[in-house]
Amino acid sequence: MSGSYYVTTPIYYANAEPHIGHTFSNIVADTLVRWHRLHGREAFSVSGTDEHGEKMVEAAAKLGEPPGVFTARISALHQRTFAELGISASRFVRTTAPEHVRNVQEILQRVYDAGWIELREYEGLYCVGCERFLTERDMLDGKCRDHERVPEPRRERNYFFLMSREFGWLRGQIEANPGLVRPARYANEVLAMLRDESGLGDLSISRPKSRLDWGVELPFDRDHVCYVWFDALISYLTGAGYPDDPRFRERWGAVEHVIGKDILKPHAIFWPIMLKAMGLPSYRHLSVHGYWNVDARKVSKSLGNMIDPLAMRERYGFEAFRYYLLREMSFGLDADFSEAALVQRANADLANNLGNLLSRTLNLVEKLCGGTVPEPADPAPRERLDAEARSRADKVLREMEDLRFHEALTAILAFSDAVNRHLDADAPWKAAKQEGGAAQVRSTLYAACNGLRQISLLLAPFLPGAAAEISQRLGLPGDLSGARWSDLLRPLAPGAPVRKGAPLFPRLEPPAAAS
Ligand code: MSP
Repeated sequence: MSGSYYVTTPIYYANAEPHIGHTFSNIVADTLVRWHRLHGREAFSVSGTDEHGEKMVEAAAKLGEPPGVFTARISALHQRTFAELGISASRFVRTTAPEHVRNVQEILQRVYDAGWIELREYEGLYCVGCERFLTERDMLDGKCRDHERVPEPRRERNYFFLMSREFGWLRGQIEANPGLVRPARYANEVLAMLRDESGLGDLSISRPKSRLDWGVELPFDRDHVCYVWFDALISYLTGAGYPDDPRFRERWGAVEHVIGKDILKPHAIFWPIMLKAMGLPSYRHLSVHGYWNVDARKVSKSLGNMIDPLAMRERYGFEAFRYYLLREMSFGLDADFSEAALVQRANADLANNLGNLLSRTLNLVEKLCGGTVPEPADPAPRERLDAEARSRADKVLREMEDLRFHEALTAILAFSDAVNRHLDADAPWKAAKQEGGAAQVRSTLYAACNGLRQISLLLAPFLPGAAAEISQRLGLPGDLSGARWSDLLRPLAPGAPVRKGAPLFPRLEPPAAAS
């Protein structure tokens, strides 16, 4: 892989407060950015808000607000929330920002001039929730499958983006590049859509202003605004600094999009063909996650079962919440969210395993070694744990190739378990009481401290707060931005004063009512 990495989250509709779905994409992107930095790559991320279209107009009208005022407020709420949680992107794009609007218009004109856009009469069933015309397949019992509402019949003169002529090309791209759309189940889903073209066709990319004027005006026809998806996808280019930023090409060459499965079609079909029409290369990966469900139903604003990330932080601490989300979802599949499961997982892995390892190690260092990382008498215990660390780290590397965060974390926690077992087996509290046992105590506790340093490094992308805290308590720098994967086997220098501190992960109480 090259020296650059660029990841995007979806840009969130500015009609809903941040919930678990948005938070999850941000956590994944944040973890990936930290992961690539740990490997010495320059990493950059983009998130944002999707502010045009009927959905925003409807939501603003309900509150009696102009759409621009409404979306600015919700957009600011997203920015504030994610900043507070420490999972902001490097750059945040609002689709109402002048530089973005300028990009959309420039691209529309270019693609129009190159013969990719045509005016046609169109009749169909439109879902405002999806912001598009539905096909048979999108509906169940006459309702939109995703929004459970009846779509409206509409007849309009629309500009069409002539994407259907590229379906064969796109199929070839996906078939020739395993991993382009991942996990593979989604590549297969896209290939199935492309094989059965009855549900696809060309893409309507305009809305008459007589019906909707909250959007980017088409530069070649001022009576129409741009379809919100055509506008939204271009935010990824705006975020990367299109067209003039000197880093734009480099970033674009290394781009990975993280999305939820409901927006597969625009990303896997519209977007690569739009990029082809613009003469730009496609993304390196489209990484698709499943839904967080509560009682088997997707968490969403329209279903009213939102989970507020700030409330979760308040109740359980953000890192426990972050850990649970990364550990419980197998990337690509759906997962069920429950506070009871969060508490159970955090207590088992974080409080009882990792947190306990940290506090017992530092306690013993204080009691038996004067509170400083001891000088080992024998390198063997550290070397034994190094072998374990190396094999777990190799596993983490392999799992992260395919975004299996849950397996990566399982491997790291297994290493923490191994360090705990090392303490149990060597029992330094017993050795300390034996004649001449001091040397063994030093070697055992040195190896445990070094193991904790390795855990802090391995965990840094996943739980940056805990990783920094472990590092600090070992007398090392709390700022891990300069840490590198290659430091894993570089032994800890003895002599630094350790700090026991409060429990890293206090045991959590289960929620009062089962959730
Ligand atoms: N604005 C579009 C995306 C445009 S990207 C160029 C959009 N916005 S959204 O706010 O509705 O959804 C944003 C993301 O959140 C999507 O990836 C969606 O899959 C994700 N999630 C929304 N609810 C979710 C869950 N309950 N679980 C996991 N992610 C889900 O779509």
